[in-house]
Amino acid sequence: MASGSGSNFEAIATAINQGTLNARIEIVIYNNPNAKVVDRANRLGIPVQLLDHRTFESREALDEAIVVALAAAGVDWIIMAGWMRRVTERLISAFPRRILNIHPSLLPSFPGVRAVEQALAAGVKIAGCSVHYVELVVDSGPIVMQAAVPVLPNDSVDTLQARIQQQEHRIFPEAIAIAAQINSSKIDKS
Ligand code: GAR
Repeated sequence: MASGSGSNFEAIATAINQGTLNARIEIVIYNNPNAKVVDRANRLGIPVQLLDHRTFESREALDEAIVVALAAAGVDWIIMAGWMRRVTERLISAFPRRILNIHPSLLPSFPGVRAVEQALAAGVKIAGCSVHYVELVVDSGPIVMQAAVPVLPNDSVDTLQARIQQQEHRIFPEAIAIAAQINSSKIDKS
């Protein structure tokens, strides 16, 4: 699921194509008609589906449509690669412990919007990114993997964000593999 440029989506697709991540991307759900992720998915031959949040009467209704689309595509995991909508219990309960998100801060610092701006404003010397399981409270779930990125004296939001994104592209495919490994090694007591 993506809302924007899709550089993380492409990093994951590249890792799969290079054989460093054993996975398959069945579909890209996007919510913003102008999202550049569509061009990347088209180029890579991966199906896309627009679910524009503006056309749904509630967050639950959007999430319901997402669950239906993902079930039809037969997916096991949801990867939020720059998905900018808050999700509801409807989505989370349909994919228990199988939703990962990437966030451009060292959580639990700077959750929510404009995380890189928040980090710069706070004057931290080390910024970074986190891959975590998605829970109802935004950016709160257990962390799978993080990368630290030093803040340089003349950093702007753009320069820092660009270096954080380089690390996102590195850790996201790795974190997906780790999370899948953790889930498959759990003893099923049901
Ligand atoms: C990424 O930097 C990701 O960390 C951020 O959106 C960007 C999407 O970039 N996500 C959030 O802020 C989520 N709260 P991309 O579309 O190029 O992958």
